[in-house]
Amino acid sequence: MRRLFPVTDQTVTSPPGAAPRSGEVQGDARADREWTLAELAAAYAYPEPHSGRREPWLRANMVSSLDGAAQHDGRSQPISCAADMRIFGTLRGLADAVLVGAETVRQEQYRPARAREAFAARRAAAGQGPAPAIAVVSRGLDLDFTLPLFTSPLVPTLVLTGAGAPQERVAEAEKAGARVVIAGEGASVDPARAVRALADLGLTRLLTEGGPRLLGQIVAAGVLDEMCLTLSPMLTAGDAQRIASGPAVAVPERFTLAALLEEDGFLFGRYCRT
Ligand SMILES: NC(=O)c1ccc[n+]([C@@H]2O[C@H](COP(=O)([O-])OP(=O)(O)OC[C@H]3O[C@@H](n4cnc5c(N)ncnc54)[C@H](OP(=O)(O)O)[C@@H]3O)[C@@H](O)[C@H]2O)c1
Repeated sequence: MRRLFPVTDQTVTSPPGAAPRSGEVQGDARADREWTLAELAAAYAYPEPHSGRREPWLRANMVSSLDGAAQHDGRSQPISCAADMRIFGTLRGLADAVLVGAETVRQEQYRPARAREAFAARRAAAGQGPAPAIAVVSRGLDLDFTLPLFTSPLVPTLVLTGAGAPQERVAEAEKAGARVVIAGEGASVDPARAVRALADLGLTRLLTEGGPRLLGQIVAAGVLDEMCLTLSPMLTAGDAQRIASGPAVAVPERFTLAALLEEDGFLFGRYCRT
């Protein structure tokens, strides 16, 4: 793993394996080796609270191919890599809650988040539970509530839905042990209200793992603070979704590059709302 941005006197400028050119910095001690989870956690730390008060911070983590595909054969794994999965795990290890669309839960067969030793001390010091809560966003609640995601998570799984959600499905979710949170007037969840509802539960370090339809609404609602984007050095063609879909925003929203890491040709960008 190499840090390409911000550029410092520790930034490696030689390609892997090449002898440094004359006058070139020898390089970061972390270059060209796998970063530890602690190093990744430091690189992806959430912003510190302002004046003692922690405001919700919503970051997204998505992977895209060079030609913009967010999946291949219905899953993101074929365009991911080991380093991407380490960052995926790190972002979960830092989060209070993971907001995810029901279709991603169904297609990617979501399981409860694990408690990982590497993040235990950091989470305890930050006053977090052993693992993030998975917060599934759904209108119809057509979810298999017999799955471990609902019946045996370390911290109760949340189901975010609208006030118009089918009551028998709400009852099924609650019977399985999920906590149902109403965050919209009709069938749909209002993303801004969802963020506020999670913050009211003390969940302010928020991560969304998409999918594209949910992320599109989060972007349109103007509540995304940070985009963690893995650019995979692959081309897929076809008609896969992009990382965010749905109606376009009126004016493209500008984000600022905060950091760029590289491993094995994959780029890991962190962009914050300007
Ligand atoms: N490249 C990546 O990083 C990445 C990340 C995640 C997923 N993916 C891929 O993306 C695909 C799935 O994504 P997707 O865009 O089709 O679906 P999605 O965004 O994961 O889920 C869509 C579903 O979420 C619920 N939903 C969305 N907006 C809602 C709202 N405002 N209120 C209430 N419920 C709402 C609805 O669930 P109900 O139908 O239950 O009502 C809707 O059908 C999969 O192929 C997955 O592999 C890729």
